[in-house]
Amino acid sequence: MLEKIIKALKVQDKFVSGEQLSKSLGITRAALWKKIKTLREKGFRIDAVSAKGYKITKSPEFSIEELNTLITDTIWKEIFFFEDIDSTNTTAMELAEKGFTHGVVVLADSQSKGKGRRGRIWFSPSKSSIYMSVILNPGIEPKDATLLTLLAAIACAQAIRNTTGLDIKIKWPNDITLNGKKLGGILTEIKSDTEKIAFAVIGIGININIAPEKFPVDIKAIATSISEHTGATHSRTLIIAEILKNIERWYNAMAKGEYQTIISGWKKLTSTLGKRVSINANQKTITGFAEDIDNDGALILKLDSGSTAKINSGDLTELG
Ligand code: BTN
Repeated sequence: MLEKIIKALKVQDKFVSGEQLSKSLGITRAALWKKIKTLREKGFRIDAVSAKGYKITKSPEFSIEELNTLITDTIWKEIFFFEDIDSTNTTAMELAEKGFTHGVVVLADSQSKGKGRRGRIWFSPSKSSIYMSVILNPGIEPKDATLLTLLAAIACAQAIRNTTGLDIKIKWPNDITLNGKKLGGILTEIKSDTEKIAFAVIGIGININIAPEKFPVDIKAIATSISEHTGATHSRTLIIAEILKNIERWYNAMAKGEYQTIISGWKKLTSTLGKRVSINANQKTITGFAEDIDNDGALILKLDSGSTAKINSGDLTELG
């Protein structure tokens, strides 16, 4: 019901009369008034003008009800929302094990055990970032799973570009960056039989409204948030909706076998290729020139010796 009211009242620059609205929703004027009150308590600014009706003039920075209104015509049919959770990835993996399938989304306001790549903890302060995991059943072979991470990185970079206008880049393999600092990351986990992926969980963490001084000391110098750059508070609702729409679009390309479209989409957004880089993996550092990525997302590195190395994973620093 709240979703229907949000949808009806978000028609730009138009008041909707209380009579018309209560009629179309099949509720009394008194019941409608109660719902309007609930929406106001949830942070919506709703103008009420006599003889004209109601209009939403401002949305809160996050609303699960508003998010549902923005993704009605998509594959994302079910969103599990938690105020606090250990990790959206862990929960999504558990839900997938229980039979929840393609198109299920797990979202949280905060995480107590957010997981980063390479066993790290993902900094997950309350109500200031996106913590989201989606379940997919791509029916692809485990060797092609990297495509999921690549397409999610493109989807996130484009979504943040579209909603904020910021020059978002992707640093290999899947860091979402802004001015060379880390804004977000992606952690894909899969369960596979030998032949095919049974299910995949793509976990996305994006720093939205975090003041720079709030980052822990160990990541302060390398992490950033959208609000740090714009000086404004951004709507998590709009960015999440845009990310979900973009994941669907790029997922459809993958489902049609358009793997090259994904690889070239990633290349258009990366800051890594064409730079001298150093990569840290298994306590070793390799330095070279980042030439390309192959169809598995591996980095092709031209070493100083003149030979070429293929790197599958690691922590990369762009040297310029
Ligand atoms: C990285 O280290 O770059 C990947 C970070 C991925 C973090 C996200 S937050 C939502 C989802 N749930 C988790 O526990 N991790 C991912």
